[in-house]
Amino acid sequence: MTHSIDYRGYYLVFRDISRLVHSTSSVDEVIRLAVTKTAELLHAKGCLMRVRNPETGEFEVAAACGIAERFLNKPPVSCRQILDDLRGGEKVRIFRDIWAAPRTDSPQQVWDEGVRMLLDVPLYHDEELLGLIRAYLSEAHDFEQAELDFVVSLGEQCACALNKARLIETQRNHYDRLILQTEKLSALGRMAAGIAHEINNPLAGILLYGSNMLKKTEPDSPFRQGLEIIVRETSRCKGIIQELLEFSRHKTPKKCPTRINEIIEKALSLVDNELMLRHIKVEKRLAQDMENILLDGNQMEQVFVNLLLNAAQAIDKNGHIVIETRMDPCRRMEIVEITDDGCGIAPMDATRLFEPFYSNKNTGTGLGLAVSYGIVRNHNGHIKVASRMGGGTRFTIELPVDGASGAEPSDRGAMHGTP
Ligand SMILES: Nc1ncnc2c1ncn2[C@@H]1O[C@H](COP(=O)(O)OP(=O)(O)OP(=O)(O)O)[C@@H](O)[C@H]1O
Ligand SMILES: [Mg+2]
Repeated sequence: MTHSIDYRGYYLVFRDISRLVHSTSSVDEVIRLAVTKTAELLHAKGCLMRVRNPETGEFEVAAACGIAERFLNKPPVSCRQILDDLRGGEKVRIFRDIWAAPRTDSPQQVWDEGVRMLLDVPLYHDEELLGLIRAYLSEAHDFEQAELDFVVSLGEQCACALNKARLIETQRNHYDRLILQTEKLSALGRMAAGIAHEINNPLAGILLYGSNMLKKTEPDSPFRQGLEIIVRETSRCKGIIQELLEFSRHKTPKKCPTRINEIIEKALSLVDNELMLRHIKVEKRLAQDMENILLDGNQMEQVFVNLLLNAAQAIDKNGHIVIETRMDPCRRMEIVEITDDGCGIAPMDATRLFEPFYSNKNTGTGLGLAVSYGIVRNHNGHIKVASRMGGGTRFTIELPVDGASGAEPSDRGAMHGTP
């Protein structure tokens, strides 16, 4: 049996779905509208939509309309099974015999519900299967090609809206995580500053009295070795506390027009010895068209020294460090990249790199990157890292030429990938 095509109805449904593609950012809204509109369009008794769960890869029931509640409790279906069911690559699959349709656990129940025909519409976006809509029709009839073509484009529009909403949701979650982490960092910073301040004075006292006693102790005294340990270890603690105080003091940068390449040369001269001892070769690719930029030279030098030392320590011996500078004229940013072929960073650790006291070195305080992050941010810049376990690491610093803040969402993002 055929029926006449309701072109106006088609147009209205298409318009609603197209609006959704451009406007909505809610996955739930997309799914809800997709099932109701598909049911409306096909004059179906009901519709059920399965959407791929990005974490498990399985297709879960996400929404339904016009069908019994129990359909909503259907278990997830594996991606493999869905693909097998769609083999043949049709854009729409019609099942006139509901007893032979895949994923129909109880055809009798479906029949009793008054369903006589099923129609599956896969939702593809860029060849990726994001979901599947199943329509339950109460009478078997023939569809015209124009109708089926329309259902296919409806599926494509739904997939597009779904994909867009998913992307926005991922970005939002990413931002929420960043905000949480920033709050955690600032609370940690305040706590660290408080502790450092309280410990600083008693430590100075211990060091003073310890050093005095050491001076007055004879070389063969049984107390000498103990006193030496007290003085040495207290000095080490003082060093850490001093760094911590520096970190928490948030010094406002004293900016003046500076050439970034010159700062890099100075930083390199400071770590020269360390690099030589470790047999590390440095390749400089410094662009000659770098503009004068407003910077606190001392602070930025500290950043590059920190990054170079980290790179050297990650290489340990016999490796390469590449330092590259370049202009991004479109974004008015100066970019510095420091790439090493050292041990790389595990994805788990990458998310914690910029936290104060995060270190996996025996002698590290874990403040180098936290301090560097603070300095770069005070210059309205961004610092990013890309790393691969065993494949080296690249730190990228972007600084606005005009000293203004540049929008960059993945700031501090520990992106994993090939450095
Ligand atoms: N280029 C790199 N390659 C591999 N791991 C790195 C690299 N840079 C940093 N890391 C990791 O990040 C951690 C934190 O670095 P950070 O500079 O903050 O502290 P640290 O080097 O351990 O101590 P310090 O306070 O002495 O700098 C390091 O312990 C190391 O595990
Ligand atoms: Mg360091």
